[in-house]
Amino acid sequence: MGVRPRAGVVALLLGIAIPMSSCIAVSTAGVTTSTDSASEIVSRLGRESFLQYCAACHGIDARGGGPAGASLKIAPPDLTAIAARNSGKFSDVDVANRIDGRSMPPAHGSHDMPVWGERFSAQLGGGDVGEEAVRGQVLVLLEYLRSIQH
Ligand code: HEC
Repeated sequence: MGVRPRAGVVALLLGIAIPMSSCIAVSTAGVTTSTDSASEIVSRLGRESFLQYCAACHGIDARGGGPAGASLKIAPPDLTAIAARNSGKFSDVDVANRIDGRSMPPAHGSHDMPVWGERFSAQLGGGDVGEEAVRGQVLVLLEYLRSIQH
């Protein structure tokens, strides 16, 4: 499945993301400890990315109370309750598509939710590299959102 972690993508991603991440103290503590599972590391990177790109609207705690969300027509939803709103099911494909946004029909939603697939791709100049960036970002964000479902 396209959105599941693939070793190549994760390796590329960790290579890009770890130097930028203040969350993981590369120089002092080492990149990982023996107790860190791959998904915990990915989810921690996802939290960094969430705080940078998403918290303004969805809130630092992801429950929807971010300051930039207040003026929107549709309030940013509580992202800790994605599964709860879907009968307990957290669908990787659906959530990834919502974050990426490029495959969503034009009429969908309020358009207050940025199309992150375009933005993340543009950050690295589009093309294949841009697509890898989108995949990496969506992957870590997905893992983070999965980890905070209640
Ligand atoms: C400018 C405000 C804003 C920002 C920034 C933002 N969102 Fe959203 N988001 C929204 C709004 C508003 C909705 C609901 C309306 C819609 O879906 O268009 C939404 C919906 C969602 C949904 C669908 C939730 C559901 O259960 O249907 C997901 C997933 C999501 N956002 C993830 C993210 C992620 C991940 C980021 C950061 C990369 C992010 N959002 C950044 C405003 C924002």
